[in-house]
Amino acid sequence: MTTPYRNTALPVAERVDDLLSQMTLEEKVGQLIQYFGGLGGLFDDIDVSALPPEHQAYVLQPKMVEAAVAAGMAGSVLSVSNPSKANELQRMAVDGTRLGIPLLLGSDVIHGFRTIFPVPIAQAASWDPSMIEAGDAVAAREARAVGIHWTFAPMIDISRDARWGRIVEGVGEDPYLGAAVAAAHVRGFQGAFGPERILAGPKHFAGYGAPRGGRDYEEVELSESELRNVYLPPFQAAIDAGAANVMAAYMELNGVPASANTWLLDDVLRGEMGFDGFVVSDASGVKNLEKQHFAATAADAGARAVAAGIDMEMCMLEPAFGELTESVARGTVDESTIDSAVRRVLTAKFRLGLFENPFVDESAVGSVLDAPEHRESARIAAERSIVLLKNEGAALPLDASTFGSIAVIGQLAGSKREVLGPWVFAHDTEESVSIVDGLRARLEGTVSIEFAPGAGIPSRIYPSMFDGQDPTVENTPADYDDDAEIARAVALAAAADLAIVVVGERQNQIGEKSSRSTLDLPGRQLEQLQKIAATGTSVVLVVMSGRPLDLRWADENVPAIVQVWYPGTRGGDAVASVLFGDVSPAGRLPFTWPRHVGHVPMVYSHMRTFDPDGRDQRYWDEPSTPLYPFGHGLSYAAFAYDNLRVDRERVAADESVTVTVDVTNTSDRTADEVVQLYIHQRHGTAVRPVRELKGFERVAMGAGETRTVTFTLGEAELRYWNAASRDWVQDASAFDVWVGGDSTASLSTTFSVE
Ligand code: NOJ
Repeated sequence: MTTPYRNTALPVAERVDDLLSQMTLEEKVGQLIQYFGGLGGLFDDIDVSALPPEHQAYVLQPKMVEAAVAAGMAGSVLSVSNPSKANELQRMAVDGTRLGIPLLLGSDVIHGFRTIFPVPIAQAASWDPSMIEAGDAVAAREARAVGIHWTFAPMIDISRDARWGRIVEGVGEDPYLGAAVAAAHVRGFQGAFGPERILAGPKHFAGYGAPRGGRDYEEVELSESELRNVYLPPFQAAIDAGAANVMAAYMELNGVPASANTWLLDDVLRGEMGFDGFVVSDASGVKNLEKQHFAATAADAGARAVAAGIDMEMCMLEPAFGELTESVARGTVDESTIDSAVRRVLTAKFRLGLFENPFVDESAVGSVLDAPEHRESARIAAERSIVLLKNEGAALPLDASTFGSIAVIGQLAGSKREVLGPWVFAHDTEESVSIVDGLRARLEGTVSIEFAPGAGIPSRIYPSMFDGQDPTVENTPADYDDDAEIARAVALAAAADLAIVVVGERQNQIGEKSSRSTLDLPGRQLEQLQKIAATGTSVVLVVMSGRPLDLRWADENVPAIVQVWYPGTRGGDAVASVLFGDVSPAGRLPFTWPRHVGHVPMVYSHMRTFDPDGRDQRYWDEPSTPLYPFGHGLSYAAFAYDNLRVDRERVAADESVTVTVDVTNTSDRTADEVVQLYIHQRHGTAVRPVRELKGFERVAMGAGETRTVTFTLGEAELRYWNAASRDWVQDASAFDVWVGGDSTASLSTTFSVE
């Protein structure tokens, strides 16, 4: 007779209970530990002794993993992306341990696996949930093909501080857009747990995007109203979309580490938000409770983390959870707490079908990873996330027939690696399309393209945590001759009919542990741009970055500016098709673009305050308006908004209002428009922001076409968490509604809630 936990006819909860009842305490504790298994095989040829000590652990850890797996003391391993290694480890767990519990293999599949999609902030800039979902389904398919079951994504930390390096991984500044994007990511990665999907693990719960000074890992002080109104909505949306996992954040939230915060993990996440999956710590997040001077010892850290609601410890070397068996014996942890955590971990394994299908088909990997349609969806995603920031005198799109020669300038333009962005581990740099490659392919046989790298982008003053792990990472050599290279680039631009100047930051200058104290273009990129502009050759500026940079000079002096982010494997093709008008850009900023670093943090959804009319003059030395507003992005087409109406002007608190608008593409070309709806509550029991996004739709429209777009505003859109009553409220109030193409939309109407 099969033991009940192996019986697929039984409900998952029964299988879990049966298995749990057969487990020893040690076996249970083993399920709660996750070890590092290496990053995409990138460690294989590395000289361990050359790495700083904290990075050596990453490399040494895989050697400990096998022992732990064989002893049944590992429930999960992360960062194994070699299918035969995945099968080997799985065989040790399935065939070599008493109960044969399969391993859950997790990885950072952040914006693609082998096929690299635009970085997450770029995906948010597409305002296109179905595109995001489709891209993540590709990433899931590729990752699952090599044996990965679970991604530590999406990162849905709202960020309002461009100095913070991880802004590139997130969803931008806005809770409503962030929620829509978060749900799309969960649907894409995880879907309905099918054989080509992976578990989604929204992270980092919660508030990690607001570190003091933008410095990564620093403490976060957030009011409860800001936490609930701004930072938690994307998590709520991810949970509602079914996310199976959540990762806890590293830092202290209002003085209590998020990784051992019972209020946050138990009361809020599970109790109020209804999360029923398992919570993983961030890497070393449990052990670190000791370093944070919260826990007295590693054993204390493990005991308090599991009691607060961490179900699995992502560990480096010795796990703090390794002490849990003793903690139970000592009476500092209840075995029932361990049981609840194990139950949640096993539930995920059963739901994924791992007990039935633990192994990966190594012979099928190649055809999945090489699928041309995957590269094609990456190209489309890149095109859809590009944002046209400025286009004076319809400088864009370019007409190839009007140029004999084009100079492409910038180290970032010529690189197959930079275009991919940070957080990629299984990419094939050779197959990626740089901006120069993309332009050459687009213009083949028509226009000659000359390239000069020009101004060197200075390297970080401290190495990136991934430098040395990814052999394809590029830095500017120490002996790079900036004067000579700038002179060569300027001369090339002077001799050409058009200069496409690519500026920005290297991909290792943004991401985890990659915060910046300024938003300036690194090195002499601005000086070079000024010299090129002074030659009289027309200039198109392409910005490659994951954060807003200081573009004040460019905005005044360069007619066309395009934000391309780190656009991924087919990035160069996408940039070429936007510049030459094969598609009209329709990406929109998911954050407010400040004029310079002193503006940070700056959001569109600020309060009116004592002096609403003096808003633009808050600083005496610089306008206090943004350079580009939230939701901004230009098009090659033109759109007219008209006939904005509400279905009724007065509603009761439990009713909703339907808002309708007619949008017409008044141009002679097909293009997408992102229709955005904002509201403002005129009075109430607290003050609400001047504008808040509460609806959007990206619509494709033919030349001359009119579309009627409808939005619904109900309790979900109108309520907010009130700091005075410490509860969710919906006030009786008059509301303004604006609909248009960005957060400065002027077409408006009103309604009131009685
Ligand atoms: C630390 C990061 O904060 C987290 O986002 C990531 O998933 C883990 N390391 C694993 O790489």
